[in-house]
Amino acid sequence: MTDRMISPNANQEEEFFEKSLRPQSFAQYIGQEKVKQELSIYIQAAQKREEALDHVLLYGPPGLGKTTMAMVIANEMQVNIRTTSGPAIEKPGDLIATLNELEPGDVLFVDEIHRLPRVAEEMLYSAMEDFFVDIMVGQGTTAHPVHFPLPPFTLIGATTRAGMLSAPLRDRFGIISHMQYYDENDLKEIVQRTASIFETEIVTEGAVEIARRSRGTPRIANRLLKRVRDFAQVQADGIINREIADKALSLLQVDHEGLDLVDQKLIKTMIELYNGGPVGLSTLSINIGEERETVEDMYEPYLIQKGFLKRTPRGRVATALSYEHFGYPYQE
Ligand SMILES: Nc1ncnc2c1ncn2[C@@H]1O[C@H](COP(=O)(O)OP(=O)(O)O)[C@@H](O)[C@H]1O
Ligand SMILES: [Mg+2]
Repeated sequence: MTDRMISPNANQEEEFFEKSLRPQSFAQYIGQEKVKQELSIYIQAAQKREEALDHVLLYGPPGLGKTTMAMVIANEMQVNIRTTSGPAIEKPGDLIATLNELEPGDVLFVDEIHRLPRVAEEMLYSAMEDFFVDIMVGQGTTAHPVHFPLPPFTLIGATTRAGMLSAPLRDRFGIISHMQYYDENDLKEIVQRTASIFETEIVTEGAVEIARRSRGTPRIANRLLKRVRDFAQVQADGIINREIADKALSLLQVDHEGLDLVDQKLIKTMIELYNGGPVGLSTLSINIGEERETVEDMYEPYLIQKGFLKRTPRGRVATALSYEHFGYPYQE
């Protein structure tokens, strides 16, 4: 995958600096009001009953704060959090080892839960429902099941695609929260918050400009802020205003809607080669040199949400807005 300014995924360097930016509580967590409101009621209820919180599934595009939310939940519950991910669990033993560390009430966070191997997923059914797992020990004639009780715990799963979860697994989550793209105002506040952690001066219009071009995604907002900050330091007095933000982002080839050259190529391909579509996702992906899944999970949702692209049964279609944005005459 190409390294794009507007990639919603974190690169390695970012994973490190993101830790310092993570809000610790609901009070610090900006936006996602509906998700926060619901969760805080369930958390208070669980605390009153002195029980573990019900299992939580967080789903939505990358970079919207799912991992952060899992940590906030554990903090608010005042319990430990153990973190693993679907691809990290290769065999049942990996899952057992993680489950074995849990104390009553703890949170087990499983990132990319849709990529859990089948056997591990099936073990989770009884773990989630009745807090035990049955494992087979020994081989051949000496093989026998061992009953392995677990303390009550909260599983928090994160996924970019709720649709890829099997029904039995999905049904075991008492709380399912859909994370939404952030609006400009929330993103502005996130940019301002990050700037203050960086001890960088930023005027409101500067923060608004970065927010507008961040594709509704805090991770992208923070990354753009970092780059704009460099630019402000070298080319100006270090203070971020609208003009500096605009100059820097234009230089980075992130346009006023947060679209980059790959988005442009995608839309241009549809318009120039396929007369605006419908055109299949695979064909489009090949044209821009990305995996089909990457386009579907990471890039397309924002284009659809913003009305540049439409999903139809026969393929993707470029909208009138796309024609206008990229300067093509539109005919029905
Ligand atoms: N609501 C928010 N308020 C402030 N910062 C946020 C918020 N949501 C996400 N972030 C920041 O954006 C980055 C990506 O968030 P993360 O939780 O890793 O997203 P995801 O797990 O959904 O990919 C982190 O640095 C995080 O601190
Ligand atoms: Mg994450």
